[in-house]
Amino acid sequence: MAAFDRSPASAQDVVAAPDTTGTAGAGPSAEGADALRAHAAAALDRARRRTATLTDIDDAELTRQHSKLMSPLVWDLAHVGSQEEIWLVRDVGGREPLRPDIDDLYDAFQHPRADRPELPLLGPDEARAYVGQVREKALDALDRVPLQGDRLTKSGFAFGMIAQHEQQHDETMLATHQLRRGDPLLDAPAPPGRRAGPLPEEVVVPAGSFVMGTSVEPWALDNERPAHEVHVDGFALDTVPVTCERYAAFLEAGGYDDPRWWSEAGWAYVSGHGITAPRFWYRDGGRWRRCRFGVDEPVPADEPVLHVSFHEAEAYAAWAGKRLPTEAEWEKAARHDPVSGRSLRYPWGDDDPTADRANLGQRHLRPAPVGAYPDGASPVGAHHLIGDVWEWTSTDFCGYPGFTAFPYREYSEVFFGGDHKVLRGGSFGTDPVAIRGTFRNWDYPIRRQIFTGFRCARDLTRDEVM
Ligand code: AVJ
Ligand code: FE
Repeated sequence: MAAFDRSPASAQDVVAAPDTTGTAGAGPSAEGADALRAHAAAALDRARRRTATLTDIDDAELTRQHSKLMSPLVWDLAHVGSQEEIWLVRDVGGREPLRPDIDDLYDAFQHPRADRPELPLLGPDEARAYVGQVREKALDALDRVPLQGDRLTKSGFAFGMIAQHEQQHDETMLATHQLRRGDPLLDAPAPPGRRAGPLPEEVVVPAGSFVMGTSVEPWALDNERPAHEVHVDGFALDTVPVTCERYAAFLEAGGYDDPRWWSEAGWAYVSGHGITAPRFWYRDGGRWRRCRFGVDEPVPADEPVLHVSFHEAEAYAAWAGKRLPTEAEWEKAARHDPVSGRSLRYPWGDDDPTADRANLGQRHLRPAPVGAYPDGASPVGAHHLIGDVWEWTSTDFCGYPGFTAFPYREYSEVFFGGDHKVLRGGSFGTDPVAIRGTFRNWDYPIRRQIFTGFRCARDLTRDEVM
């Protein structure tokens, strides 16, 4: 892995600090720059190979809207190219526009998802040719442009941002595949089984401050910055995400019929929409079954529950006598190393994700059973924090103290406020380039088509605090 990717301990986020990304003036050495270019090219290539897999289906499947919540897949395809053209070809590369005429069509803010099938979109072959042409010019820019100086190009940031953007749309396209009906189009091997021994129900995180967010991670996006110190009261966190078996117990106990467990908005949502179980679950006699990428199967007991809204997660937690973790609690349990006092890049340390630490990158089309990744545990002993399922937190999506939008307000700043809840950790459908211990995702509290589950937290009792 490229040297830039492993900041030495001294460059880690140890204290609240202004933006200290990189070393002022000292660009990567010639060798470092080559490694950085190779790393960026590999990240772009991996994203493109995944996009190709997700769009290697017939034209009717590509242009159809499988759900009002999602774009036709062919929109995502050309949108990925359009963003790459805007940032890497025009802005960083300084070249003339290829298709200025389609900027508006692929501007997510101009056209809501529901309206996209009616637009005069590029057809499947045109879209494939377009993204190919853009990629050639983007790689040319990667060869030519010095990866230093300017904040957009320093450490290859813009290339990393665009690789992450494509991977984010790949995860969205994967969610579209999950929503489509008909025979399976995707396949992947089963995830590993349980490897951990018996695990405690909860881990305890003692009170104290830790460094949240980052000022040094080169490809961290604007909303993860800057690093800042946060005090977190002592709390207990579930060692693993809530499993399907546990969640089914809430259903069997009549949880969806009892307003006691629900917020006002949550109750209005489930009763108003006739929601009685996680999305894609149905009852077959005495058993729960689900449909997963066109495969109908019994709901597996030990897998983290998926496709629940924030409201459902919150209601389950209330029923269980607990609550959802705040975003700061989640990050402290995931990154804070009590021995060194440092915040790690990932729960297991500073090294990049590997297949034995986290279920990421669409290697599997489902979460692994809980206990499958003991090597991915955090210093306090929480498992599955990165990969498998995104996790709802109770925190509204807002900027950290000192936040500045970069390079565009529409990535995250325009979503700040009370409408979206923060999601952490990434899912089996998230590529490693698009997840970090500091990465922040967000969505409306009613959303269920994304690959999201949750775990519970609780305050410590008086005895536990002592
Ligand atoms: C970070 C997943 C919320 O898909 O809406 C893609 C990412 N932003 N294109 C989204 C994004 C612009 C974003 N999320
Ligand atoms: Fe986008």
